[in-house]
Amino acid sequence: MKRLHIALVYNAYTEGTPELPEDRAGSEDLRTQMRLIARTLRRLGHTVTVLPLALDLFGFQRRMRRLQPDVVFNLYDDVVHGAIYDMRLAALVRMMGFPMTGSPALALGLTRYKFMTASLLAGAGIPIPPNTAILETVRAVDQHKWQFPIIVQASQEHAGIGLDRHSVVHSKKDLRLKVREIVQNYNQPALAQRFLPGREFNVGIVGGNRMRVLPLAEMDYTELPASIPPIMSYAAKWVETSAEYQHTSVICPANVEPELARQISSVALRAFRAVGGRGYGRVDMRLDEADRPCVLEVNCNPCLDQGIGLARSAESAGISYAQLLQMIIRAALERTPYDLDIPMFPTGPGGLSKRLARETAGVGEVHG
Ligand SMILES: Nc1ncnc2c1ncn2[C@@H]1O[C@H](COP(=O)(O)OP(=O)(O)O)[C@@H](O)[C@H]1O
Ligand SMILES: [Mg+2]
Repeated sequence: MKRLHIALVYNAYTEGTPELPEDRAGSEDLRTQMRLIARTLRRLGHTVTVLPLALDLFGFQRRMRRLQPDVVFNLYDDVVHGAIYDMRLAALVRMMGFPMTGSPALALGLTRYKFMTASLLAGAGIPIPPNTAILETVRAVDQHKWQFPIIVQASQEHAGIGLDRHSVVHSKKDLRLKVREIVQNYNQPALAQRFLPGREFNVGIVGGNRMRVLPLAEMDYTELPASIPPIMSYAAKWVETSAEYQHTSVICPANVEPELARQISSVALRAFRAVGGRGYGRVDMRLDEADRPCVLEVNCNPCLDQGIGLARSAESAGISYAQLLQMIIRAALERTPYDLDIPMFPTGPGGLSKRLARETAGVGEVHG
């Protein structure tokens, strides 16, 4: 691949998020991930400029305009609980006309709203857990028929935020308590759905116009004490000192019969496409009582830490970390079908940048 000038953009805002020493989700972790990606890209021969964005939007735009990167590597994650801002950076970068890794703004925004995503998937005929409902008040609990157990979570969070040992409820009374807690503590509606007891898989996807499903990863809850529900709670994901973290592991590649693996991969891919995901993603799935794969969550721009999640699945397909990053960049540089590219920042001496001139020359072409 040609040597590129890559702008690595990350969220450098540091206030408002509690930092616990035993908590791997802190912003120090994000910076470590960002440095690793920068180092890996430089080793591949690319020129990397790290661009933090905290609150100085205009300064950020000036730097981007001066740099004229070939591609923006988007590591702009929300760092404040309750914020749903991931989509903003993606929109901004595309408005400026730069190619960008990962999913477009619409997919990033949509998938942070779990009920909207679930509704869209159901509408597209993609299986989701039954009894999926959004609850804005405790009273709304009475407007539905429930078949327990039900899992309750914050409807606009990610990364296990708001999920704990009490998130799986067996009665209306406990459901009400959990809904109240979420509405009050997280200032957003609760999402409730039937708790699926079956095997849980993470499905990694990478690629642009042609997407590839990576080997499946299975969550292993067999070592968990019976008092803790088998879910990827906040503690299981991030709190190294917790029983959840210590007794939950991941089997990758998962040991799955080929026909089931094929079904899981196909549902995951359909879900990622349905939400408009691109570049790289991870779909969280679980089997229902009849062993049918259902989609729990579509993660656009999932964590790119080495050795876990997407990178681990890639590794088990023989794709090194560096190769994975390279595939993500290659996908970003592919032309997107049906996407008109009209940058709002013409630059350079003659007004139009070279890239802009090239791209507007292609407007109206049909890409397939
Ligand atoms: N309907 C469900 N049935 C069973 N487990 C679920 C269900 N929904 C969520 N979970 C569990 O909770 C975890 C987190 O849910 P998910 O929707 O992926 O949110 P997050 O954004 O926090 O990852 C899942 O990995 C799974 O273990
Ligand atoms: Mg998830």
